[in-house]
Amino acid sequence: MSWGRIFALCALLPLIREARGSPCKRAVCRNIPGDPGWPSSTDWDLLNKTVDGHLIPTIPLASLCHGTEYDQGHCDGLKEAWPFAAVHVQESAEFLMPYFQNQSCDPYTAQEKPCELGNYAQYSINVSTVGHVQAGIKFARENNIRLTIKNTGHDIMDLLSGSELALLRQMPLKRRASRGFRVVTGTCPDVGVVGGYTPGGGHGIFTSIYGMGADNVLEWEVVTAKGEHLVATPTAHADLYWALSGGGAGTFAVVLSMVTRVYPDGDIAGASLSFDIESAGGVEKFWDGVATFQAAMGPVVDAGAVVAYALTPTAISVYGIAVPNENASAIDQVLSPITAAMSQVGIDLNITTTMHPRYLDFYNQYFLEAVTATPAAQITGGRLVPRSIMETDAGAQTVTEAFRNATDAGFAIVCDAINADQERLNRNAVFPSWRSSLLHCIFVKTWDFSMPWAEMTEYQANLTNIVMPQIEAVTPDGGAYLNEANFEQPDWQNVFYGENYPRLKGIKNQVDPQGIFYAQTAVGSERWAEDASGRLCQQ
Ligand SMILES: Cc1cc2nc3c(=O)[nH]c(=O)nc-3n(C[C@H](O)[C@H](O)[C@H](O)COP(=O)(O)OP(=O)(O)OC[C@H]3O[C@@H](n4cnc5c(N)ncnc54)[C@H](O)[C@@H]3O)c2cc1C
Ligand SMILES: *[C@@H]1O[C@H](CO)[C@@H](O)[C@H](O)[C@H]1NC(C)=O
Ligand SMILES: *[C@@H]1O[C@H](CO)[C@@H](O)[C@H](O)[C@H]1NC(C)=O
Ligand SMILES: *[C@@H]1O[C@H](CO)[C@@H](O)[C@H](O)[C@H]1NC(C)=O
Ligand SMILES: *[C@@H]1O[C@H](CO)[C@@H](O)[C@H](O)[C@H]1NC(C)=O
Ligand SMILES: *[C@@H]1O[C@H](CO)[C@@H](O)[C@H](O)[C@H]1NC(C)=O
Ligand SMILES: *[C@@H]1O[C@H](CO)[C@@H](O)[C@H](O)[C@H]1NC(C)=O
Ligand SMILES: *[C@@H]1O[C@H](CO)[C@@H](O)[C@H](O)[C@H]1NC(C)=O
Repeated sequence: MSWGRIFALCALLPLIREARGSPCKRAVCRNIPGDPGWPSSTDWDLLNKTVDGHLIPTIPLASLCHGTEYDQGHCDGLKEAWPFAAVHVQESAEFLMPYFQNQSCDPYTAQEKPCELGNYAQYSINVSTVGHVQAGIKFARENNIRLTIKNTGHDIMDLLSGSELALLRQMPLKRRASRGFRVVTGTCPDVGVVGGYTPGGGHGIFTSIYGMGADNVLEWEVVTAKGEHLVATPTAHADLYWALSGGGAGTFAVVLSMVTRVYPDGDIAGASLSFDIESAGGVEKFWDGVATFQAAMGPVVDAGAVVAYALTPTAISVYGIAVPNENASAIDQVLSPITAAMSQVGIDLNITTTMHPRYLDFYNQYFLEAVTATPAAQITGGRLVPRSIMETDAGAQTVTEAFRNATDAGFAIVCDAINADQERLNRNAVFPSWRSSLLHCIFVKTWDFSMPWAEMTEYQANLTNIVMPQIEAVTPDGGAYLNEANFEQPDWQNVFYGENYPRLKGIKNQVDPQGIFYAQTAVGSERWAEDASGRLCQQ
């Protein structure tokens, strides 16, 4: 009898399912090392042969910071590099977020502390052919082990940790602008485009004219949980195409490639501005100014702009305003709603504007340094703020007050004002709240490795218990972007997927009835939970 059939039988017989050592035990929980069903070294060797020697055993990056292998020079360098994405993205099993790394093997803990795999996968397959992907899925299915897919490891949502086998499929988009075209991508240069970003929705500086990344995908080339290699389009495997376009990565299939719309590159105007408590003339005036600024974004994003800004308890830095396809004389017009509203509250803005012949030029001036010089190791919450709320005075005031409270609690706020409602493109599983929102904001506490671990985890607890509930209370129906939110979000099915959830779940059950692809807060994951030893078990 195949494992799949045992699985189905067990689902019908909860009593047998519970019985220790019954033939069903294997199917109910995924195997972890040490379990009787864990593959033998011969099994792993055979898998390695099948994948042409591409099976990589995980050796954590920070292993040289522990035990007898300790290497001080290496460790000192690693301590500097660790909070940034670059050091993690090329490694087979590493990921970026400290909370999920959980100190199992990092460069800051004592040399005597053993380096353990913790939440890292035991093995990765560096896949380079369809056959490698199919072999990995088959191995995971036959041996009942937990599988994930790793692209560049920028995951914020705890999607990567706890698996035993990772399919390493790294697909960075290089030479973004060299061919004279624009693609909707994110603002961090080393976030992969085809991995977590686009299937999760994907917002960027072109979203107010070209929509979300997912809105532009014409074809997905995938391997399914059943091992089929196929291409999903609006007419072939249409349900899968719909779900993959915004319904979340790591859930419906392994993506090998995508075909996306591109747009001719060309003029792009840029602008930046800032004001703070001092230039606004006092604390209350500053926060009034922030409320006024945020409420003025509607006509600006409707003109095709995306406005990126960061908010701290004392200042707002509007570090990147992108106005694609406009020239320097047009930008004053586009920004006039902001300047007009701000001068009404007595704040005269000093706006710097620039003109660029192509995207990369703009990007290098406004984003490159900002994103590469900022540590990405952080605690993160996120919220989509409905336009209908921001465009009333009372709404803008209470949202800004909740933001102020979040900055008081130690969180910086990084927002994009954006218009993702590009009607001709809205035919997929992108969370509908994106279309009616004015702001996408994240609430960020940069991880401070010099602080006691317990203090940092207290920030995570405060985010979940205090900061996010206050923001949610003043943004009813807002929801959150599934790629950039609090991984502990309660009621995530509604908050991340909304009305799409039932259809997405139906598709998940059809394309992956055995739950081969699992990730916390991914569609269908409520079927599973970890037991005390970290085994993933069917509920
Ligand atoms: C510094 C930083 C900046 C960011 N900026 C933006 C931004 O500007 N805009 C935006 O929209 N988002 C942004 N994000 C969020 C980002 O889109 C997500 O974190 C995304 O999941 C990262 O994708 P990844 O390719 O690194 O995937 P990973 O972190 O490697 O994996 C994430 C998830 O994707 C799945 N996955 C990976 N590869 C595949 C594949 N080939 N097929 C199927 N599933 C796969 C994994 O199983 C996992 O569930 C940012 C994140 C960070 C940390
Ligand atoms: C797989 O084979 C390659 C090449 O022979 C080897 O370098 C690698 O260590 C093997 N992987 C494992 C997990 O043994
Ligand atoms: C994966 O394989 C590619 C070549 O196919 C190679 O460039 C890359 O370094 C490999 N990654 C790891 C982590 O071994
Ligand atoms: C971190 O490790 C501890 C045990 O050392 C465990 O209790 C806890 O659940 C782990 N947390 C995460 C997020 O994995
Ligand atoms: C700038 O753009 C505006 C509006 O798009 C246009 O009318 C004007 O001719 C442009 N000016 C230059 C110098 O290109
Ligand atoms: C406005 O900003 C520019 C560039 O940052 C600066 O050189 C100039 O002095 C500023 N002007 C005022 C009036 O603040
Ligand atoms: C901000 O915090 C204050 C003090 O705790 C609280 O009274 C107020 O309700 C909070 N504001 C919002 C919008 O949650
Ligand atoms: C968490 O919130 C509580 C209550 O507001 C506060 O006393 C505590 O200092 C906060 N912890 C951290 C780490 O900010």
